Formats: sequence, C-alpha cells, structure tokens
Amino acid sequence: MNRKNDNPEKEIEKEGLIKAKKLQKVFVVGGGFARSRLLAVDDVSFQVNKNEIFTLAGESGCGKTTVSKILLGFLEPTQGEVYYRDKNILELQKWEEKKQFMKEVQSIFQNPFETFNPLRKVDSYLHDTAKNFGMNGKKRDKKAVEEALQSVGLGMEEVQGRYPSEFSGGQLQRISIARALITKPSLLVADEPVSMVDASLRMSIVNLFKELRDEYSVSVLYITHDLATAYYVSDRIGIMFRGNIVEMGDVEEVLMNPKHPYTQMLKESIPEADPKKKWTERVSITELETEEYMRKGCKFAGRCPFVEEKCKDFMPEEFFVDGRMVRCWLYEK
Ligand SMILES: Nc1ncnc2c1ncn2[C@@H]1O[C@H](COP(=O)(O)OP(=O)(O)OP(=O)(O)O)[C@@H](O)[C@H]1O
Ligand code: SF4
Ligand SMILES: [Mg+2]
Repeated sequence: MNRKNDNPEKEIEKEGLIKAKKLQKVFVVGGGFARSRLLAVDDVSFQVNKNEIFTLAGESGCGKTTVSKILLGFLEPTQGEVYYRDKNILELQKWEEKKQFMKEVQSIFQNPFETFNPLRKVDSYLHDTAKNFGMNGKKRDKKAVEEALQSVGLGMEEVQGRYPSEFSGGQLQRISIARALITKPSLLVADEPVSMVDASLRMSIVNLFKELRDEYSVSVLYITHDLATAYYVSDRIGIMFRGNIVEMGDVEEVLMNPKHPYTQMLKESIPEADPKKKWTERVSITELETEEYMRKGCKFAGRCPFVEEKCKDFMPEEFFVDGRMVRCWLYEK
C-alpha cells in the first residue's frame, strides 16, 4: 500500500478531520398510548483529528452506534451537523462529492460474518470495492487489493477463492479492514470491531489500528464498551452516558484520573482499579435506563453521590478543566 507517510511533520498534526457539532437524535419508541420520545443522543460535540485514534466508549445503549451512523451519513440527526474536512456532510449535493466522502470515510462493523455473504468468495468483495471506487483495469485493481491485504498482514494466496466460513472471526475482520482500506481512506469508523473476535486475537486487531495511524496516516473513530482496548489503543477518549459525552480528553488522564462522578464510578467498579481489565459488563437496568434517559437535568443524578438540587432540574453544561471537558455542575467554578 503506497500510503506511507514520508512527512514527519504530518505525524504531529492536530487538525480536525471530522467534527460532530451539537448532535441530537430523537427516536419515537413504543406505540399507541405508550408512544414516547427517546433522546438517544443529546448535545454531542467532538472531533477526530488527523492521525489520531479517538474512542467513544460507554455502556450498551448509551448512543454510540447512533452517533457513528450519523457521522457516516447513514442516519439524519434531529439537530446538529457533521463537518468532514470543513464541509457539512448533510449538504453534499453532487454525486462526486458524496462518492468522495464514501471513499475517504470507511466503516468496519461488529460482526464480520454479517459483512460477507456466506455464498460469495471473499476476494470478490475486494475486487468489487476496487472497481467501484475507480481502480479500473485489471492491473490497478489487483495491485490495490494486494496492497490492502498486505497492510493487514495477509497475502492474496491466503484469501483467493475462499468463502467466509473458511476463516476465523479474527481473520475475517482483518479482511473486512483490508476491504475498507482499498479506497485509501482518511478515516475508519469502527463500531465494536473486536467484540465478536476471539479474545486472544483482539489485541492484534487493535494493534492494526495503531499501525494504520502511524504508517498510513489513517485516523480511527473506535467505538467500544471495552475499557481495556480503549485504554490501549486511543489517543483521546469520550465517555458516553445516556446520550451525552460526560467526559472527554487525553485517554491516560480520563481513565487514570477521572473527574466526572460517572467515570469515577466506572473506574472504581473495575477490580484493582486497573483499566487494562474489562469494563463493567452490561447489567440489566432497562427500567433505570429509561428513567435516566427521561431525566430533564443530569442523567446521572439518580445515582450520583455528589448530587445537588440544581443537578435534578438543569442539564449540566460542558466545562473545561485541566485540558479536558467534563459535563458536571461540580466544575462550574
Ligand atoms: N432505530 C431506533 N429506534 C428506536 N430506538 C432506537 C433506535 N436505534 C437505537 N435506539 C435506542 O437508542 C439508544 C441508543 O442506542 P445505540 O444503538 O446507539 O446504543 P449503543 O451505545 O451503540 O449500544 P450497544 O453498545 O448495545 O451497541 C438505545 O436506547 C436504543 O434502544
Ligand atoms: S451534575 Fe450533579 S448529579 Fe450530575 S454528575 Fe455532576 S454532581 Fe453528579
Ligand atoms: Mg452499538
């Protein structure tokens, strides 16, 4: 893959590549009298910089996938905007502009077995992607596919003529990353890419993201509920809770020295306070979850040891403390 970054200055570039501004998404849930509005994503702003792995982490149901779908243009936000290279993606009019966006921003999904049709040979996907994005001509197409496979540590001979069932989950996820790399993207949006991969292979996949960042200047939006890989792979992290980002900053700072009471609770809930261990598993809190989503003030007020009257009525603003964002009234002053 001819994407190696020869310019060392680019390595330290901190320029925003994609920016989410005040995103909100309302879903209407239930039917008849039980119909209600669920504010799945509320006032979410962040950016993924060039040459950066940014993680959105949080419990199941906190709004991660909804945010990623909005960023990819798969879902329209109720409010807010997404800017890619300073262009509002909802206002891309021309087909060429949309295609360029699809080429530069690629997605990787949770289950690689759902990405590939079991009756189709996997290499046909790779060749089709190359053709669809303008690598026409047998030689260029073959070269693009070979380079992409090479960058994920695979060779054509291991893939050619084989069906998805002939690969392990980890191998197939590598192939789906290779497919995404064929278009030479600037950004990968990876939604829980290792949660269905065998635990022993998870680190090799997340290591791949680091290699892609360092050697090919690919930025990654990594979405996970797994604190161990988040800590290991990220440059910066945003912690989501019930549709809000409650704390965001340098990964080491946020996870080792959390400021938001929710992030502090997460850290304490990990045995030996070791963030390399797995994050809290999803507990069955559906009723609590619904109640928290519906709260008008701070969504964490029902469980927070520092709750004050104001927290119950007013949603906290974003406060900037020691180089990070914390959405909590404790940091108002
Ligand atoms: N199409 C939809 N219609 C109604 N509600 C939805 C829809 N999509 C998501 N939701 C709800 O919005 C909330 C956020 O969902 P989302 O899938 O974004 O969470 P998540 O953080 O990705 O969770 P997980 O870790 O389980 O993937 C959840 O309460 C979910 O039930
Ligand atoms: S705003 Fe209030 S309830 Fe919410 S986390 Fe901060 S102190 Fe706790
Ligand atoms: Mg999800």
